[in-house]
Amino acid sequence: MPPDVPSHESRFVPRTLLSDERIGRMRELINRLPKAELHVHIEGTLEPELMFQLAGRNGYELPFSTVDEVHAAYKFTDLQSFLDIYYQGAAVLQTPEDFHSLMSAYLDRAAADGVRRAEIFFDPQTHTERGIGFEVFMEGFRSAMEDAAKSNGVSSALILCFLRHLSGEDAVKTLHEAEPHLDGVIAVGLDSSERGRPPVLFEDAYKAARTLGLRAVAHAGEEGPPEYVESALDVLGVERVDHGVRSLEKPALVERLVREQIPLTVCPLSNVALHVVDQLADHPLPAMLDAGLQVSVNSDDPAYFGGYVGDNYEQLVEVLDFGVGELADLARMSITSSFLDETTKVALIEELGAVVAG
Ligand code: ADE
Ligand code: ZN
Repeated sequence: MPPDVPSHESRFVPRTLLSDERIGRMRELINRLPKAELHVHIEGTLEPELMFQLAGRNGYELPFSTVDEVHAAYKFTDLQSFLDIYYQGAAVLQTPEDFHSLMSAYLDRAAADGVRRAEIFFDPQTHTERGIGFEVFMEGFRSAMEDAAKSNGVSSALILCFLRHLSGEDAVKTLHEAEPHLDGVIAVGLDSSERGRPPVLFEDAYKAARTLGLRAVAHAGEEGPPEYVESALDVLGVERVDHGVRSLEKPALVERLVREQIPLTVCPLSNVALHVVDQLADHPLPAMLDAGLQVSVNSDDPAYFGGYVGDNYEQLVEVLDFGVGELADLARMSITSSFLDETTKVALIEELGAVVAG
């Protein structure tokens, strides 16, 4: 980042000077486009207001006294600087009601942005390490997901993530602990610190997950090299790559991703907040679309990175001058990249076509 830029907020300043009216109209369209969110960490949706509420409810002492203080602490230099504060925030989550509140708040917000399908990461080891068992968080997640399906029609599923800063053995142990609680879990994933933690460390855990009938995704090529994307595909057998933006550094990998139609779940505001890119205007998303990659746009950790999925789409309009065609392509690819059944995908894409036709 250039030294004269004090924080990530100032790097979101629109490059194009679109009228407020056009942005308002585009935002309205964005909210009406049926879409899937495929890359969101439920612990990353913990808004400071809810963090204080849960800390109060549980008698947990936070190292902050106001919401402004929390926001002031959200100035990250890289992935690790974010993860340190993100794991600290998650400590307020203690009871099934807390996990229910967290999931309900996210699903309500997602529904307002036109999300019709959410495939949601959770980090069990962040909770089991603190003595909070699977039965506690799964009960909270599931009840909120069932409520949302009934009240606002959002279909959702969970992706159990292994923390890659912990060992492969720990991941296998976590999966065994999870076995009686897999209702609602569609896949396994891999997140946390990427540098120096190659996918191969988790080969056994992914093998075990496959025998349980779970599908597979993994974070790769966020801060790690393109070779991690290759080994996520070859060693872990993932069907979808989370982030994957560094794939562009290796043309042969890009060709492969296009040929094999491997979806990449891209998170533009996250990439700016964590300095994966210097500013949104430099984001490789336009190049990824031009290359023919299957990309979706997602929020990652919206409470920490300045926006939910609709805000990510909106910033693409404001900063990268995306129009209706590009937004509709992104929404369509989010649906095709999801783990929904083909009939539901076709129905959602038909709806999308009707919205675009206006
Ligand atoms: N956990 C939560 N957000 C993450 C990210 N962007 N990368 C890796 N692990 C994460
Ligand atoms: Zn992520």
